Order: sequence, then C-alpha cells, then structure tokens
Amino acid sequence: MDIIFSGIQPTGNLHLGNYLGAIRNWVQLQKDKFCIFCVVDLHAITVWQAPDKLRQHTREVVAAMIASGIDSEKQIIFNQSRVSGHAELAWIFNCVSRIGWLNRMTQFKEKAGRNRENASVGLFAYPNLMAADILLYKGTQVPVGADQKQHLELTRDIAQKFNSDFGIDFFPIVEPLILGEATRVMSLRDGMSKMSKSDPSELSRVTMVDDSDLISKKIRKAKTDPNPLPHDVRSLEGRPEAQNLMAIFAALSDTKLEIVCERFGGLPFSKFKEELIDLAVAVLSPIQSEMVRLLNDPAELDRILSVGSERANALAYPTMQEIKKIVGLLSE
Ligand code: TRP
Repeated sequence: MDIIFSGIQPTGNLHLGNYLGAIRNWVQLQKDKFCIFCVVDLHAITVWQAPDKLRQHTREVVAAMIASGIDSEKQIIFNQSRVSGHAELAWIFNCVSRIGWLNRMTQFKEKAGRNRENASVGLFAYPNLMAADILLYKGTQVPVGADQKQHLELTRDIAQKFNSDFGIDFFPIVEPLILGEATRVMSLRDGMSKMSKSDPSELSRVTMVDDSDLISKKIRKAKTDPNPLPHDVRSLEGRPEAQNLMAIFAALSDTKLEIVCERFGGLPFSKFKEELIDLAVAVLSPIQSEMVRLLNDPAELDRILSVGSERANALAYPTMQEIKKIVGLLSE
C-alpha cells in the first residue's frame, strides 16, 4: 500500500505559493490515497521562533489545510513534536547519515548563508529529521516542491545505508511526487524570484487570508511586460511575469499551461488579469472565510491536532520499537 507523507512548516503569511505548491495538491491526493500530513514544528525551530508565534502559525497551517478541503478524519493531520518517534528516529539517523552528505545540501548553504559557523546544529541536521518524518511511517511517496528533491534523495541514501548497515530490508525506497502546474509560484512583483512570506512588499504575494478586494488589488498591480500574452508555452520564455500569471491560472483551474496560452494568447494583460481575478476570488474566498472562522476557534484546531497526533503515534510507536530492536537499543 502506498503511504503518502508530507510536511509543511508552520509559517505565518501562508500564500498562493504554499496553497498551489502544496496544500491544493494534497487535497487531490487524499481522494484515492491514505495521507499523513505533518506540521513540522521541530523543523521550524531550527531557526529561532517566538513561542507565541509558533503556536499561532501551527494553528494557521492546520486551518489552511482544513479550509482547503483536507479531511482530518480520513487522513492524519498532526504536529511533529507531539509524536516522539520523530525526534528519536532523527537521532538514530544522525548516526547513519554522513557529514559529507549533509555538506552537499544546497538548502542549508542557502539558509545558513555566509554565517555558517553561527547556524544551529539543527539547521544542518534538518534533512535527517525530514528522513525520519517519512521513514517513521515507511512512507513511499512524498509530495514536495522541486526544492525538496535533494532532501528526498538523502532520505533514500539514509534508508539504504540503514538497511545495509543492519543487513535488513526494513525501510522502503521513497519516491518524490512533484505535482501541479504552478509548483513554483513566483512573486507578483518580480517573476524571477519565488513568492515568499518574507518579501517586504505585501503586493508580492496573495495570502490565504486576503479578502476579494485585496486579491483583486494585488493581481491588478502585478508586474507585467508590454506585449500581449503569447499563444504557446514556448513563447513564454524570457517572459517570467506572463509565465507566472498564466501558470497560476492553470493551477487554479486545474488545466495545463498550454490550454491557458491557447485561450488567452493575443489578449493584453489587463483583460487576462480580469479573468484571473475572477478565478482567484472564486477559488480562494471560500477558503479564506472558512480559515477565518476556524482561526476564531483555536480549541477546535487543537482538538484536531490532538486526535491526529494520537493516530500518528499509534502508527509510529510500533515501528519505532522495531527500529530500536534492529539497532540494539533495549526497550520494552
Ligand atoms: N522540508 C520541507 C519543506 O521545507 C518540510 C518537510 C519536513 C517535509 N519534513 C517533511 C516535506 C517530510 C515532506 C516530507 O518544504
């Protein structure tokens, strides 16, 4: 049986990139697969987080998932720190994984920047914890953005080394699932940089709590180029803003970029933007209002996480016992 596992960081300011790149794909996947969705609060603290913000952001991500249509009864939604197996297995993987492997991780290099010596040890070991997240459930398929592919390759290396170190065929080989047209949503102000929660310009992103007026305003002000929209995908080359807006349209309407080009090719940006606004408002505003409603009931969100964590733990605990036995750690 396929086990789908994915993780999302508890960040505030969830935006269209998070929705189209992750959450919307998860909503599709749950239709015919069993999925475990984890809010990775232990990953979040690899960089210091204000405790109140961390609590709030964890709830925000859960609200976004549920408002978008993930069924918390059929699937599992929980926060990582609630299931102790994640941290336990991450430690074991710290001992399986090699410093040389982690040294090659581009995300660490980017995040640590020039001040590498001052980065937390947790940030360096981050991919080992990610491998633990997935393998604790013997996950086989992992929907992620393209930027996480390297971490999944590391997960495979860890699984294989563990299996061969202990002479056992225990962990499965994990496959990435790279889904959707707009897995990489770019800034509305600059088609060359990724849409980001930390961009100082609010106009660079549509967030999941923006109301229809804000959505319209931001799309109307989105950067364009002087030419009409192209008729085919090839002609999008060198036109990052056109590419981005059309890819967003494709993702929001579950169609292919090609079809969007065929339909809107030749139109000026202004006309296309009106269509995009209608679509974005139709898709996003019901989610936005449900999210706002859920956020007003934090006790309900906490209950969902508590139930999810118990169910996750019921799967993780026996596996962790087996792992301890394999490694030679005495336990119950
Ligand atoms: N590193 C992932 C990201 O930043 C989040 C993540 C943590 C994750 N654990 C995971 C994703 C396990 C997939 C599976 O996007």
